[in-house]
Amino acid sequence: MDAAVTQLARSGAIPFLCGSAAGCFALYSAKVAAAAGEWRAVSVKAATDMDSALCTSHSVALDQHAASCCALTATSVASTVEAIVDYRNYRHCSQEKLATYFATRRPFFARRSVLGTAVVSLALSASLVGGFRLMAPQQPLLRHPLWASHAGASPHWEKLWGQDGSLPKGSRFDVAGESLPLTAELKRRNHAPRDGMTALVPGCGRAYDALALARHGFDKVVAVDLSPAACEAAREEISGSSWSGGVQVRCGDFFALDPARDGTYDLIWDNTFLCALEPEVREQWALQMKALLAPGGEIITCVFPIGEREGGPPFAMSVPLVRALLEPIGFEATLVQDQLPLEEQHRRPGDKLESVLTRGTALVTWRLRSQD
Ligand SMILES: C[S@@+](CC[C@H](N)C(=O)[O-])C[C@H]1O[C@@H](n2cnc3c(N)ncnc32)[C@H](O)[C@@H]1O
Repeated sequence: MDAAVTQLARSGAIPFLCGSAAGCFALYSAKVAAAAGEWRAVSVKAATDMDSALCTSHSVALDQHAASCCALTATSVASTVEAIVDYRNYRHCSQEKLATYFATRRPFFARRSVLGTAVVSLALSASLVGGFRLMAPQQPLLRHPLWASHAGASPHWEKLWGQDGSLPKGSRFDVAGESLPLTAELKRRNHAPRDGMTALVPGCGRAYDALALARHGFDKVVAVDLSPAACEAAREEISGSSWSGGVQVRCGDFFALDPARDGTYDLIWDNTFLCALEPEVREQWALQMKALLAPGGEIITCVFPIGEREGGPPFAMSVPLVRALLEPIGFEATLVQDQLPLEEQHRRPGDKLESVLTRGTALVTWRLRSQD
């Protein structure tokens, strides 16, 4: 044994290295356990059963990996204890005696205390989580990637709303007032026949329609938009109205609304919101609409723009497309209005009436089938 090794051993490097390894394993186990918890939470919100099952099995694999790393941590701690005992015995030894000491000692992994800790901790962790997993599991490939749950939360919207200080009225998608299909629909039917009825307008923009619903008789209308600039414009828009007390403008992501916390609604009015979302989140849109609908409530979708178009937003819509989203989860279309007079179809005030021939509108009312 040369002098340098002796000096290193006497400096306490061996227990220090063992202790550091134990610390690293402990830290890593905690991180893996936290990741397992996050995947469990994602599995609850996954868009499809298949994705949910993939997330759950990944969280189980992560739990097993975390538990196996905990067993490694315990084994490293046992090695550290052995290293400390050794160190106390050899720290004052001469170089010669030190060599003899090491020659008589077994390596850590072959000592009874370390072996025993390894066996007991591995058996314990495996029985708790159903198996060992020393290598980290590979992240599953989901049909709807995780970012999709936030795809609606695109900075695109804030940029649009921030244009020229605030999106000018009547420009882009802003129709400078209550939308024409809603005005016509509220004249045709009374949608708020009882006291205390509530409505939700997701992707409300300047909240013109939310105000119209409050005027129509809804006691509480929640208008949600992701863009802080849109929410500011909405609050300014409704501030002068005597109906503004019935409208709550909420700035946030529609997909983050929680029915248990934020309530459910008797009417959900989707006006050019679905067409504004990335196609990957459409199934999540449908599930979230269902979750936020009060028992016996109805959804009205203003299906727009109907017609040929590439890309988006707004993405091309059609009644069959919305049917394909809502019918499989228990909705039925109780009223399909797909032959609306041209002047009742969605358009900006500056658009020619004929514009609706290539960007048509249908209004569809949806209710949950009774067995659901
Ligand atoms: C096409 S605009 C329609 C605005 C409004 N319905 C109207 O007719 O004036 C879509 C709106 O949805 C908002 N939005 C987009 N993704 C959202 C999300 N995930 N949650 C809430 N609002 C969102 C945008 O900021 C934008 O104001």
